[in-house]
Amino acid sequence: MKITVAGTGYVGLVTGVMLAEIGHHVTCFDINEEKVEGLKAGKSPIYEPGIDALIVSNLDRMRLNFTSNRDCAYAYPEIVIIAVGTPEEEDGSADLSYVKMVAKDITKYGKQKELIIVTKSTVPVGTNQKIKKWIEEDLQNGTKFDLVSNPEFLREGSAIKDTFHGDRIIIGSESKLAASVIEELYSPLNIPILHTDIESAEMIKYASNAFLATKISFINEIANICEKVGANIEDVSTGIGLDNRIGPKFLQAGVGYGGSCFPKDTKALVQLAGNVKHKFDLLESVIEVNNNQPLLLLQKAREVVDSFKGKKVAVLGVAFKPNTDDIREAASLTIINELNKEQAIIVAYDPVAHLKAKDLYKQGVFFTNDIREALTDATLAFIITEWDEVKEFPIEKYVEIMETPIIFDGRNCYDLHKAKNSGISYYSVGRQA
Ligand code: UGA
Repeated sequence: MKITVAGTGYVGLVTGVMLAEIGHHVTCFDINEEKVEGLKAGKSPIYEPGIDALIVSNLDRMRLNFTSNRDCAYAYPEIVIIAVGTPEEEDGSADLSYVKMVAKDITKYGKQKELIIVTKSTVPVGTNQKIKKWIEEDLQNGTKFDLVSNPEFLREGSAIKDTFHGDRIIIGSESKLAASVIEELYSPLNIPILHTDIESAEMIKYASNAFLATKISFINEIANICEKVGANIEDVSTGIGLDNRIGPKFLQAGVGYGGSCFPKDTKALVQLAGNVKHKFDLLESVIEVNNNQPLLLLQKAREVVDSFKGKKVAVLGVAFKPNTDDIREAASLTIINELNKEQAIIVAYDPVAHLKAKDLYKQGVFFTNDIREALTDATLAFIITEWDEVKEFPIEKYVEIMETPIIFDGRNCYDLHKAKNSGISYYSVGRQA
């Protein structure tokens, strides 16, 4: 099929590449010409294991192309997939201006007789009806169009695997025919498909992210209590996860969730609920617990070292999770900002996100991709992202190169007994100091 994907962010690019790989002819459109030029040359603007090779091979097969020309993008595709960003507004709601821009471009540049418009961007319930209205008010060429809500569930860092081997594909549409075309589009993937109405499909996306965020805040609260009552969160997570009704995933306690999705989508769902006069108390608490989680780790450190002023503090990991250079809403930023306020000398390590992070802090914080440089002569260290490079860093080296080997491990990277017997002062989350 002939498809245009609007937006070459995480979701758009990975979707476009996957559809080309399974045999479709895909044009990825983006307004950012520099990004498009880079992509044409086979350079991915995002750090994602496996994506570069797929871009290059599908460019070579002529099944994938990139453009910032609206005419080329919208004139004749059978399907347009909207995968543009929906950033957070000041009040927590989702900003739909990029989505609206695509809708308007489709009506202005589209020349086809029939078109299926698929929304993959994370949009509040009711947005597809808005898209319909935006298109209908401008449509002059008599194109017959159908809308499909088809939310995306890929994770950064494992986006390729998630896209090719997802747990489910959600197809929400008022049109049986459009729904069957989209089912056909994905048929080579062999992933279970659920057909719903549009509003339910839109809600499934927010409810999934909110539920996962709830699991994380729940286990973090249990971890906080474990510390006080002498229990071990890893055993507790394993123990409850063995119950099939709970499951073992997303029960990893730590400094909380970050990234461009959970923080934004939980707030947007609270906002959406508020719009229909429902106060979503549970989700508000999930957000509050998450905001506090990095602060609790800092508090633990304050109790051990009194003050951070003038001390060299290593922060290991800046990305919001491993295998990405994304630092949006990362717990590391909360930790770094607080340490900065308290006049610590901060050296933050990240194997890939160090350059992005450097742009955020003009002064006062040093960034490196050399873990030894961050730790050498440091008084204490915070572990914030569980990169392999951190997990595999030999514990004895902390003793060797730090001034005082005091470690606050926000991701429980090390075996508790091994850490305790290695000569470091070791504090983690939900486990005994
Ligand atoms: C999340 C969802 O997992 C995807 O299904 C969804 O498609 C995506 O948002 C989105 O809406 O676009 P992502 O933000 O890439 O994906 O990353 P996750 O792997 O879900 O991790 C999110 C955060 O939760 C990370 O900061 C991670 O460290 C934290 N986390 C995760 C925990 O603290 N504990 C856990 O057990 C799991």
